[in-house]
Amino acid sequence: MLRSYEGVRFLPGKQMVILDIGSAYTKFGWAGEPTPRGIIRTEIKCPETKVLRRIYDYKDTSDLYQLLVEFLHALFLRHVVISPKDSRILVLESLLAPIEFKETLVRVLFRHFEIGSLLLLSTHLAPISTLGVSSALVLDVGYKEATLIPIFEGAQILKAWQVLPLGGQVVHEYLMKSLKELNPNVDITEKLVEEIKVRTCFVTSLERSVKLDTAQAPDPPPAVKYPGVKSINVPGEVREKAFEMLWERDNDNLSIPTMILDAIIKCPIDTRQVLAENILLIGGTTMTKGFASRLKSELLTLVKSNYYADKLKIHTFKFHTAPSKPNYTAWLGGAIFGSVDLPLRCLTKENYLKMDRVPDWVNLIDNQRDSSPVYEA
Ligand SMILES: Nc1ncnc2c1ncn2[C@@H]1O[C@H](COP(=O)(O)OP(=O)(O)OP(=O)(O)O)[C@@H](O)[C@H]1O
Ligand SMILES: [Mg+2]
Repeated sequence: MLRSYEGVRFLPGKQMVILDIGSAYTKFGWAGEPTPRGIIRTEIKCPETKVLRRIYDYKDTSDLYQLLVEFLHALFLRHVVISPKDSRILVLESLLAPIEFKETLVRVLFRHFEIGSLLLLSTHLAPISTLGVSSALVLDVGYKEATLIPIFEGAQILKAWQVLPLGGQVVHEYLMKSLKELNPNVDITEKLVEEIKVRTCFVTSLERSVKLDTAQAPDPPPAVKYPGVKSINVPGEVREKAFEMLWERDNDNLSIPTMILDAIIKCPIDTRQVLAENILLIGGTTMTKGFASRLKSELLTLVKSNYYADKLKIHTFKFHTAPSKPNYTAWLGGAIFGSVDLPLRCLTKENYLKMDRVPDWVNLIDNQRDSSPVYEA
């Protein structure tokens, strides 16, 4: 008896839908659940041309509008199975993402799908609710880029944000080039590269990495034959070097470890130690074997370098382990946020249609202390 009442109370249609639309993968599910109901590629088959297109490779906003309509239609009616009209949706958005993407997405949700209310939550702020801490340095390494925003006592330190075009995509490009050269008779697709990357490649240790391409180069790890119609030879050097792009300095001397140290330097002095001891890695690329330990050794070496030794007096770095896989930690944070009974700052359909704009943190009107008219508690 009790069970059926529970079922009625938690009718999925009444719950908030949580969406994290990443450049490679979209995670979706219901508020209050521990894992997403599904993770699908952020791409859709164009109805006219039948060509598979990534949503983030849009040409202009009207093209993006069409792509999002098709993609969300498939998501709502095939995967989440709800009637989007009047539903409550929480979307995780990176504060560093292009504003036109956010504005078009909100327009599609309200004008095309006529959803009831929308809550936009920062991808970097959401994951801290999975840890029960109020301060963390959140580094997201996904597909297109690595982004970082430190959080102190629940507030995002926006002046310390960092972003670099380092993520799964650069690794794919390296692998695609190397594998095509080595296996000219095999059709190397993006999907195959991804499989090979996740199953055979790894982040090597700092000690081995400094010796690569020198006279004292260590013996490479064993090669792997990847099975298929035509088996693909993945040499040990390729397996080991695939992720080196993430650690090499660019022309401005920046890489993933420098992002962390530069962000800490930009934060107020009394927050620095706390942030260094509360690093949270999110995003699928951080799941690669050896990623966290390499990052830690890079950080410990870098803080001793001339450039950072004068500026930073930090000698320990600690990493959190969230109760989820890193690729959906932000989603889980959203699912926790969406299930609490606190008065949420949702944008309702009525308010959106009245104002015809999306509240944004860079806009002064939305940053006033007293409650803004576009939100509703
Ligand atoms: N177990 C794994 N090991 C290594 N890489 C992985 C693993 N699982 C996923 N990835 C990689 O993580 C990347 C996707 O991560 P994620 O889902 O966080 O990206 P996204 O949110 O779509 O991208 P972005 O945040 O940049 O918009 C892909 O490149 C994928 O190959
Ligand atoms: Mg992401």
